Amino acid sequence: MVTLFPYVVAVLCGATSARAHWLHPAAPAAASRAETSANYWAQDAQAAINARLERVESVKKARNVIMFLGDGMSVPTLAAARTLLGQRQGKTGEETKLHFETFPTIGLVKTYCVDAQIADSACTATAYLCGVKNNYGAIGVDGTVRRGDCQAASNTATHVESIAEWALADGRDVGIVTTTRITHASPAGTFAKTANRTWENDGEVSQMGLDAKDCPDIAHQLVHHHPGNKFKVIFGGGRRAFLPNTVQDDEGSYGRRIDNRDLIQEWKNDKDSRNVSHQYLWQREQLMNLNDDLPEYMLGLFESSHMEYHLKSDPQTEPTLAELTEVAIQSLRRNEKGFFLFVEGGRIDHAHHDNLVELALDETLEMDKAVATATKMLSEDDSLIVVTADHAHVMTINGYSGRGNDILGPSRDVGRDRMPYMTLSYTNGPGFRPHVNDIRQNVTAEPNYRTLDWESHVDVPLEDETHGGDDVAVFARGPHHSMFTGLYEQSQLPHLMAYAACIGPGRHACASAAHLPSAHFFVALLALFTSILLR
Ligand SMILES: *[C@@H]1O[C@H](CO)[C@@H](O)[C@H](O)[C@H]1NC(C)=O
Ligand SMILES: *[C@@H]1O[C@H](CO)[C@@H](O)[C@H](O)[C@H]1NC(C)=O
Ligand SMILES: *[C@@H]1O[C@H](CO)[C@@H](O)[C@H](O)[C@H]1NC(C)=O
Ligand SMILES: [Zn+2]
Repeated sequence: MVTLFPYVVAVLCGATSARAHWLHPAAPAAASRAETSANYWAQDAQAAINARLERVESVKKARNVIMFLGDGMSVPTLAAARTLLGQRQGKTGEETKLHFETFPTIGLVKTYCVDAQIADSACTATAYLCGVKNNYGAIGVDGTVRRGDCQAASNTATHVESIAEWALADGRDVGIVTTTRITHASPAGTFAKTANRTWENDGEVSQMGLDAKDCPDIAHQLVHHHPGNKFKVIFGGGRRAFLPNTVQDDEGSYGRRIDNRDLIQEWKNDKDSRNVSHQYLWQREQLMNLNDDLPEYMLGLFESSHMEYHLKSDPQTEPTLAELTEVAIQSLRRNEKGFFLFVEGGRIDHAHHDNLVELALDETLEMDKAVATATKMLSEDDSLIVVTADHAHVMTINGYSGRGNDILGPSRDVGRDRMPYMTLSYTNGPGFRPHVNDIRQNVTAEPNYRTLDWESHVDVPLEDETHGGDDVAVFARGPHHSMFTGLYEQSQLPHLMAYAACIGPGRHACASAAHLPSAHFFVALLALFTSILLR
């Protein structure tokens, strides 16, 4: 009973107690007796067939499009996160589904970039937001620009438009929400054009001996350039790129800018000059106190750098991703024409890089809650929701434990050296333990292996665990969701969303262009006339 107590609290109290931490794994739950019957699985399959047959796909225009991006949310991350979710509810876990895993269409995308076998978050953001593969480290520019080549990127012919720009051109509203710095690579893909993702503030540009006028930093682009200056909702972390390095923010951290500009003030001035209502927010309370009459423009920067991990944050000061998503939708859905919203669970990636596997899984579950919030607020009939990842990581799920074994605990088996290993480990990263006489260290003898700061064990010592080169999954729900099935290039994603939403330069699902006779039709007609004339 004692070990079950935290689970009971979590189930009874729901979201607020989700920050409670599970220091002691529960005894493994046993699989239900029903599962031992063949009939159970046959019935499960028949129910699945019926559900597929009853599925109706909306062929309306997708008025609203939300793209959820789990940074580094590999397929094994999904399997481990869903198991953890179930185990937190006192179940065996493996049979659990994340909310977005119930979406009707699932596809796989290939994440390599023009010059990279294993991608980073910059070239992938250009792919899944601008529809173009480009080079590692570069954002919003085509594959002619190498990372760091300021001169090449200053040629606007290299710039590529994002789906956010296609939405704005159609009169829809745009918002971006993330748990990282708002100037970080993934959200920057919606608005920035830069040869180097690191140029988040002007100091980073100058440090390279470059002029920030030739290569404006990412924060500057968000406040002053199209399309960032038209975004109605901007929520994330990263105040430091907006403030001078001589100025402290509301929580006492210094800015990073060397041009002495206060871009938060300049954002407010820009909205004043356009006579539109606006509000700057920096703590959760301000977000919760917004009344129904939301300001037209909102800039929320809740941390100096990235927002805290959900399990480590102070719930009083930092909103959850679900809370941010809810306010963003409330704001954007006031536009009759619809909106495009980008929401990133950005810290799955950071936790993986540090081999902090429980944090990576919990951040995945936090994004899942944000997806659930969105599906509650928006109809499947007119709102397309796409959930995906930018690239994988090298976390792996090792065999062979019994059903319901603690997903964060040791495998049931031991190595050839008789030493235990964990079910979840990484092929590389900071969690390397030197071997003693060719024998691995006994990780289960480390007293803290079930705590948040415990680094999982790895094979190759590296300062930072690396991304993985495997494909990532795409989940789709709403109008034209079946377009997202199959295995395809990641750069097709914004084109598919634009097709369903009838925005952007390509083919549209609803516009007359889709019904216009094709060139083949005219060729056939010509052939018919010719054959008649020649008769
Ligand atoms: C990108 O910018 C950072 C910060 O200025 C710099 O350290 C790095 O060398 C740059 N990368 C390239 C390839 O120029
Ligand atoms: C600004 O907006 C207010 C309220 O909507 C309006 O009364 C005022 O005339 C506007 N001013 C300008 C310069 O457009
Ligand atoms: C590893 O540590 C655990 C926990 O202290 C212990 O029960 C087990 O016997 C150890 N195994 C070996 C091979 O040292
Ligand atoms: Zn990463």
